[in-house]
Amino acid sequence: MWLTRIVAVALVAGMASVSFGALPGLAQPKIPADFGFDQGKDSPGKVTFSHEKHKEKVEKCTGCHTKIFKMKKGQTGTPTMDKMKAGEQCGACHNGKTKVGSAVVFNVDDKTNCEKCHTKK
Ligand code: HEC
Ligand code: HEC
Ligand code: HEC
Repeated sequence: MWLTRIVAVALVAGMASVSFGALPGLAQPKIPADFGFDQGKDSPGKVTFSHEKHKEKVEKCTGCHTKIFKMKKGQTGTPTMDKMKAGEQCGACHNGKTKVGSAVVFNVDDKTNCEKCHTKK
């Protein structure tokens, strides 16, 4: 299937570019440091993504890699709110529905949550 093929290609591409320590399932994978995204038009503030903070909540690397995000910065495409509201990228979980444990992951489409991701200017 084409989908399987894309995932397989993404996996190979991702792994070629990172150390083998990043392979899911191996002991002590190397986790990238926090990084920021370039700001799109009218972005209300800089967004920083923290692997460290997600590690506690999303236990497995495969929770995001490589179905939701490729394992190389900038390769998934520019994040936009439209895509996220449609359930892609960060919105795959931050949709006010996905549960981790007993907590519902906060929604990208709620005005009280903008500043959880976008730091104030
Ligand atoms: C909650 C989602 C999420 C989880 C879980 C996650 N990552 Fe990531 N990771 C990302 C995002 C987002 C990017 C950037 C992708 C992009 O820009 O296209 C990324 C990128 C990476 C990169 C590339 C960094 C670079 O500078 O190019 C590596 C390596 C990586 N992740 C390793 C891991 C490992 C190892 C784990 C498990 C311990 C993990 N990730 C778990 C979201 C996640
Ligand atoms: C695989 C699911 C998943 C994806 C994809 C994901 N997150 Fe999260 N994120 C979580 C969970 C679970 C929490 C903790 C529960 C909560 O705070 O609602 C969290 C928490 C956060 C927090 C609060 C961290 C803290 O404790 O201070 C921020 C900020 C955040 N995510 C940003 C992002 C951004 C930006 C992206 C996209 C680049 C993203 N997340 C993608 C699952 C995900
Ligand atoms: C889960 C994290 C997260 C939440 C919550 C979030 N955003 Fe975003 N947003 C991002 C990321 C990542 C980008 C891409 C980087 C940038 O443009 O700053 C982005 C980009 C944007 C952009 C520019 C690109 C586009 O799609 O137009 C606007 C405008 C925006 N966000 C508005 C908002 C508003 C308004 C809220 C609250 C209703 C919000 N965001 C909540 C993560 C989030």
